[in-house]
Amino acid sequence: MSSLEKINLENVPEHVAIIMDGNGRWARQQGHERLFGHNYGVESVREALRAAQNTGVKYLTLYAFSTENWNRPKEEVDGLMDLLVTTITNEVDELDSNNVRIQTIGDSTGLPEGCRYALMSAIERTKDNTGVTLILALNYSSRWEILNATKEIAGEIARGELSPDDITSDVFEKHLTTRSIPDPELMIRTSGEHRVSNFLLWQIAYSEFHFTEVLWPDFKEEDLYKAILDFQSRERRFGMVSEQLNK
Ligand code: IPE
Ligand code: IPE
Ligand code: MG
Repeated sequence: MSSLEKINLENVPEHVAIIMDGNGRWARQQGHERLFGHNYGVESVREALRAAQNTGVKYLTLYAFSTENWNRPKEEVDGLMDLLVTTITNEVDELDSNNVRIQTIGDSTGLPEGCRYALMSAIERTKDNTGVTLILALNYSSRWEILNATKEIAGEIARGELSPDDITSDVFEKHLTTRSIPDPELMIRTSGEHRVSNFLLWQIAYSEFHFTEVLWPDFKEEDLYKAILDFQSRERRFGMVSEQLNK
Protein backbone atom coordinates (compact mmCIF):
# COMPACT_ATOMS: atom_id res chain seq x y z
CA MET A 1 0.00 0.00 0.00
CA SER A 2 1.40 3.37 -0.98
CA SER A 3 1.77 5.93 1.79
CA LEU A 4 -0.50 8.16 -0.33
CA GLU A 5 -3.51 6.07 0.70
CA LYS A 6 -2.70 6.60 4.39
CA ILE A 7 -2.59 10.38 4.13
CA ASN A 8 -5.46 12.34 5.62
CA LEU A 9 -6.20 14.71 2.76
CA GLU A 10 -7.94 17.08 5.18
CA ASN A 11 -4.65 17.78 6.96
CA VAL A 12 -2.09 18.23 4.22
CA PRO A 13 0.41 21.08 4.64
CA GLU A 14 -0.45 23.96 2.37
CA HIS A 15 3.24 24.76 1.90
CA VAL A 16 6.13 22.27 1.84
CA ALA A 17 9.73 23.50 1.58
CA ILE A 18 12.56 21.15 0.63
CA ILE A 19 16.31 21.49 1.05
CA MET A 20 17.31 19.26 -1.85
CA ASP A 21 20.66 17.93 -0.66
CA GLY A 22 22.99 15.07 -1.56
CA ASN A 23 23.40 15.37 -5.34
CA GLY A 24 27.19 15.48 -5.17
CA ARG A 25 27.50 12.50 -2.83
CA TRP A 26 25.04 10.51 -4.93
CA ALA A 27 27.10 11.15 -8.09
CA ARG A 28 30.36 10.27 -6.36
CA GLN A 29 28.85 7.00 -5.12
CA GLN A 30 28.18 6.10 -8.76
CA GLY A 31 31.69 7.12 -9.77
CA HIS A 32 30.58 10.27 -11.62
CA GLU A 33 31.24 14.00 -11.44
CA ARG A 34 29.05 16.02 -9.08
CA LEU A 35 27.13 17.58 -11.99
CA PHE A 36 25.78 14.17 -12.92
CA GLY A 37 23.94 14.20 -9.60
CA HIS A 38 22.50 17.65 -10.22
CA ASN A 39 21.21 16.52 -13.61
CA TYR A 40 19.61 13.46 -12.09
CA GLY A 41 18.07 15.57 -9.35
CA VAL A 42 15.73 17.15 -11.92
CA GLU A 43 13.79 13.88 -12.04
CA SER A 44 13.29 14.11 -8.27
CA VAL A 45 11.83 17.58 -8.73
CA ARG A 46 9.24 16.02 -11.04
CA GLU A 47 8.53 13.35 -8.43
CA ALA A 48 8.08 15.91 -5.64
CA LEU A 49 5.83 18.05 -7.82
CA ARG A 50 3.63 15.07 -8.73
CA ALA A 51 3.32 14.15 -5.07
CA ALA A 52 2.35 17.75 -4.26
CA GLN A 53 -0.30 17.66 -6.97
CA ASN A 54 -1.66 14.31 -5.77
CA THR A 55 -2.05 15.46 -2.18
CA GLY A 56 -3.22 19.04 -2.62
CA VAL A 57 -0.06 20.82 -1.44
CA LYS A 58 -0.50 24.35 -2.81
CA TYR A 59 3.06 25.71 -2.49
CA LEU A 60 6.25 23.71 -3.02
CA THR A 61 9.47 25.61 -2.36
CA LEU A 62 12.75 24.06 -3.48
CA TYR A 63 16.12 25.32 -2.29
CA ALA A 64 18.07 25.12 -5.53
CA PHE A 65 20.99 27.53 -5.07
CA SER A 66 22.11 29.41 -1.98
CA THR A 67 24.15 32.61 -1.87
CA GLU A 68 26.92 30.47 -0.36
CA ASN A 69 26.85 28.05 -3.31
CA TRP A 70 28.72 30.68 -5.41
CA ASN A 71 31.79 29.58 -3.43
CA ARG A 72 31.79 26.17 -5.14
CA PRO A 73 34.23 25.41 -7.97
CA LYS A 74 33.45 27.52 -11.05
CA GLU A 75 32.78 24.46 -13.20
CA GLU A 76 30.04 23.29 -10.83
CA VAL A 77 28.47 26.75 -10.52
CA ASP A 78 28.44 27.19 -14.32
CA GLY A 79 27.00 23.70 -14.74
CA LEU A 80 24.22 24.44 -12.25
CA MET A 81 23.30 27.71 -14.01
CA ASP A 82 23.23 25.94 -17.39
CA LEU A 83 21.09 23.18 -15.93
CA LEU A 84 18.69 25.75 -14.58
CA VAL A 85 18.25 27.41 -17.97
CA THR A 86 17.83 24.15 -19.91
CA THR A 87 15.45 22.67 -17.33
CA ILE A 88 13.20 25.73 -17.16
CA THR A 89 13.20 26.09 -20.94
CA ASN A 90 12.45 22.40 -21.57
CA GLU A 91 9.87 21.96 -18.82
CA VAL A 92 7.86 25.17 -19.06
CA ASP A 93 5.32 23.78 -21.58
CA GLU A 94 4.53 20.79 -19.43
CA LEU A 95 4.46 22.80 -16.23
CA ASP A 96 2.08 25.26 -17.84
CA SER A 97 -0.20 22.50 -19.13
CA ASN A 98 -0.23 21.04 -15.62
CA ASN A 99 -1.49 24.40 -14.30
CA VAL A 100 1.74 24.96 -12.30
CA ARG A 101 2.62 28.54 -11.39
CA ILE A 102 6.35 29.24 -11.23
CA GLN A 103 7.83 31.78 -8.84
CA THR A 104 11.27 32.46 -7.41
CA ILE A 105 12.62 33.76 -4.13
CA GLY A 106 16.09 35.17 -3.62
CA ASP A 107 18.17 37.87 -5.27
CA SER A 108 17.50 37.24 -8.94
CA THR A 109 19.55 40.30 -9.90
CA GLY A 110 22.66 38.28 -9.03
CA LEU A 111 21.86 35.49 -11.51
CA PRO A 112 23.39 35.33 -15.01
CA GLU A 113 21.31 37.11 -17.65
CA GLY A 114 20.32 33.89 -19.44
CA CYS A 115 18.91 32.48 -16.21
CA ARG A 116 17.03 35.66 -15.41
CA TYR A 117 15.49 35.70 -18.85
CA ALA A 118 14.42 32.01 -18.74
CA LEU A 119 12.95 32.50 -15.27
CA MET A 120 11.17 35.74 -16.11
CA SER A 121 9.49 34.23 -19.16
CA ALA A 122 8.45 31.10 -17.23
CA ILE A 123 7.04 33.23 -14.39
CA GLU A 124 5.15 35.46 -16.81
CA ARG A 125 3.84 32.52 -18.85
CA THR A 126 2.49 30.65 -15.80
CA LYS A 127 1.38 33.57 -13.63
CA ASP A 128 -2.36 32.92 -13.99
CA ASN A 129 -2.16 29.19 -13.29
CA THR A 130 -4.09 28.00 -10.27
CA GLY A 131 -2.50 24.63 -9.46
CA VAL A 132 0.64 24.11 -7.40
CA THR A 133 2.88 27.15 -7.01
CA LEU A 134 6.45 25.93 -7.55
CA ILE A 135 8.85 28.33 -5.86
CA LEU A 136 12.53 28.06 -6.73
CA ALA A 137 14.91 29.51 -4.14
CA LEU A 138 17.77 30.82 -6.27
CA ASN A 139 20.64 32.94 -5.07
CA TYR A 140 18.69 32.80 -1.84
CA SER A 141 19.80 33.05 1.74
CA SER A 142 17.71 33.97 4.69
CA ARG A 143 20.21 36.39 6.19
CA TRP A 144 20.37 38.23 2.87
CA GLU A 145 16.56 38.37 2.81
CA ILE A 146 16.25 39.61 6.40
CA LEU A 147 18.97 42.23 5.91
CA ASN A 148 17.35 43.36 2.69
CA ALA A 149 13.99 43.75 4.44
CA THR A 150 15.68 45.70 7.24
CA LYS A 151 17.31 48.07 4.75
CA GLU A 152 14.00 48.70 2.98
CA ILE A 153 12.23 49.40 6.27
CA ALA A 154 15.06 51.67 7.44
CA GLY A 155 14.70 53.57 4.15
CA GLU A 156 10.97 54.06 4.74
CA ILE A 157 11.67 55.36 8.23
CA ALA A 158 14.40 57.71 6.99
CA ARG A 159 11.96 59.13 4.42
CA GLY A 160 9.34 59.62 7.13
CA GLU A 161 6.96 57.07 5.55
CA LEU A 162 6.95 54.75 8.56
CA SER A 163 7.44 55.08 12.29
CA PRO A 164 9.48 52.44 14.21
CA ASP A 165 6.39 51.66 16.31
CA ASP A 166 4.57 50.57 13.14
CA ILE A 167 6.98 47.69 12.47
CA THR A 168 4.89 44.60 13.10
CA SER A 169 5.44 41.02 11.90
CA ASP A 170 3.01 41.73 9.06
CA VAL A 171 4.90 44.85 7.98
CA PHE A 172 8.22 43.00 8.17
CA GLU A 173 6.94 40.06 6.13
CA LYS A 174 5.86 42.37 3.33
CA HIS A 175 9.56 43.12 2.77
CA LEU A 176 10.63 39.49 2.51
CA THR A 177 10.88 37.79 -0.90
CA THR A 178 8.25 35.33 0.37
CA ARG A 179 5.60 38.06 0.72
CA SER A 180 2.17 36.66 -0.21
CA ILE A 181 3.40 33.07 0.32
CA PRO A 182 2.21 31.39 3.55
CA ASP A 183 4.88 30.01 5.91
CA PRO A 184 5.78 26.37 5.26
CA GLU A 185 4.12 23.98 7.70
CA LEU A 186 6.62 21.29 6.69
CA MET A 187 10.34 21.57 5.94
CA ILE A 188 12.17 18.55 4.52
CA ARG A 189 15.92 18.04 4.20
CA THR A 190 17.36 15.09 2.34
CA SER A 191 20.79 13.44 2.60
CA GLY A 192 20.92 12.96 6.37
CA GLU A 193 22.15 16.47 7.19
CA HIS A 194 20.36 18.07 10.12
CA ARG A 195 20.82 21.77 9.46
CA VAL A 196 18.98 24.66 7.89
CA SER A 197 21.83 26.19 5.84
CA ASN A 198 20.42 29.72 5.79
CA PHE A 199 16.99 28.76 4.45
CA LEU A 200 13.75 30.54 5.41
CA LEU A 201 14.87 31.35 8.97
CA TRP A 202 12.00 33.74 9.60
CA GLN A 203 9.36 31.60 7.90
CA ILE A 204 10.12 28.29 9.68
CA ALA A 205 9.38 29.65 13.16
CA TYR A 206 6.69 27.00 13.60
CA SER A 207 7.45 24.53 10.80
CA GLU A 208 7.68 20.81 11.41
CA PHE A 209 10.99 19.28 10.26
CA HIS A 210 11.38 16.00 8.46
CA PHE A 211 14.89 14.71 7.86
CA THR A 212 15.55 11.74 5.60
CA GLU A 213 18.74 9.88 4.74
CA VAL A 214 17.61 9.64 1.09
CA LEU A 215 19.95 11.54 -1.25
CA TRP A 216 18.04 14.00 -3.44
CA PRO A 217 18.48 12.11 -6.76
CA ASP A 218 16.87 9.06 -5.09
CA PHE A 219 13.89 11.07 -3.79
CA LYS A 220 10.57 9.71 -5.10
CA GLU A 221 6.88 10.62 -4.78
CA GLU A 222 6.65 8.08 -1.98
CA ASP A 223 9.27 9.99 0.04
CA LEU A 224 7.09 13.09 0.04
CA TYR A 225 4.09 11.02 1.11
CA LYS A 226 6.13 9.62 4.00
CA ALA A 227 7.15 13.14 5.03
CA ILE A 228 3.49 14.24 5.00
CA LEU A 229 2.52 11.21 7.10
CA ASP A 230 5.29 12.11 9.56
CA PHE A 231 3.90 15.67 9.65
CA GLN A 232 0.43 14.31 10.36
CA SER A 233 1.76 12.38 13.36
CA ARG A 234 2.94 15.58 15.06
CA GLU A 235 1.02 17.71 17.51
CA ARG A 236 1.52 21.37 16.63
CA ARG A 237 1.07 23.29 19.87
CA PHE A 238 2.22 26.81 18.94
CA GLY A 239 3.28 27.45 22.52
CA MET A 240 0.07 26.12 24.07
CA VAL A 241 -0.54 22.85 25.90
CA SER A 242 -2.16 19.70 24.54
CA GLU A 243 -5.39 20.08 26.52
CA GLN A 244 -6.06 23.45 24.94
CA LEU A 245 -5.80 22.00 21.46
CA ASN A 246 -8.08 19.04 22.10
CA LYS A 247 -10.91 21.07 23.57
C1 IPE B 1 22.35 19.84 -3.36
O1 IPE B 1 23.29 18.83 -3.49
C2 IPE B 1 22.28 20.75 -4.56
C3 IPE B 1 22.85 22.08 -4.36
C4 IPE B 1 23.31 22.59 -3.25
C5 IPE B 1 22.92 22.93 -5.53
P1 IPE B 1 24.81 19.08 -3.15
O2 IPE B 1 25.50 19.56 -4.37
O3 IPE B 1 24.96 19.95 -1.96
O4 IPE B 1 25.32 17.61 -2.82
P2 IPE B 1 26.22 17.16 -1.60
O5 IPE B 1 25.58 17.68 -0.35
O6 IPE B 1 27.57 17.74 -1.83
O7 IPE B 1 26.21 15.67 -1.67
C1 IPE C 1 21.92 23.79 0.95
O1 IPE C 1 22.75 22.74 0.63
C2 IPE C 1 21.63 24.62 -0.27
C3 IPE C 1 20.81 23.97 -1.28
C4 IPE C 1 20.21 22.82 -1.18
C5 IPE C 1 20.64 24.73 -2.48
P1 IPE C 1 24.33 22.86 0.80
O2 IPE C 1 24.89 21.54 0.40
O3 IPE C 1 24.84 24.04 0.09
O4 IPE C 1 24.47 23.10 2.36
P2 IPE C 1 25.68 22.83 3.36
O5 IPE C 1 26.87 23.56 2.80
O6 IPE C 1 25.91 21.36 3.39
O7 IPE C 1 25.20 23.34 4.67
MG1 MG D 1 25.03 19.62 0.02
